[in-house]
Amino acid sequence: MAIEQLLILIKPDGVKKSLTGNILTKLSEARMLIIGAKAVKVSKELAEAHYQQLKDKPFFGELIDYIQGKIYGEPWDRVIAFVYQGEDAIARMRKIAGATNPEEADPVSIRGAYGRITTKGVYENVVHCSSDTQEAQREIKLWFKPNEILTSIYPTKKVIVEKEEIEVWS
Ligand code: PPS
Repeated sequence: MAIEQLLILIKPDGVKKSLTGNILTKLSEARMLIIGAKAVKVSKELAEAHYQQLKDKPFFGELIDYIQGKIYGEPWDRVIAFVYQGEDAIARMRKIAGATNPEEADPVSIRGAYGRITTKGVYENVVHCSSDTQEAQREIKLWFKPNEILTSIYPTKKVIVEKEEIEVWS
């Protein structure tokens, strides 16, 4: 089995409902390593880039508002972002998260226990988990800078910005 990384987001509903601790406890059952973690106020640009493959879906606008925490407002308009690493990490963490649709998710999973579908039909499913290694790489590079991750996972390069050398994803 391969060592994989993936992005996990605790979405604004998880933050608002004070579920961060419960979610991390459930995720910790997989005994994976956290190699990056931070709280993020999600810009429209970041939200749209994250969900770029869904831009033609009828719920896209609401999905963007949701991940930006617009429904809950300040101070809940944030997500907690993690990069987890471990053996077969994507399949194992997605099992703990449960099916995308909270109504179809195993009641013992995070989404089954805590998710809901809004009256507008948007899944408020508490967490996001990368779906495969390609998506994981795209998402991790979108949400994290190289120096915010404790392990070297993808190639980087040094560039000069305003006379300062910084490391970026290559
Ligand atoms: S696809 O094209 O529907 O198979 O895409 P998928 O990879 O399953 O991701 C869909 C993301 O959109 C969120 N979302 C919804 N999906 C389907 N139907 C409705 N009504 C809906 N509302 C929101 C869904 O939660 C997925 O986001 P993440 O962050 O991965 O949970």
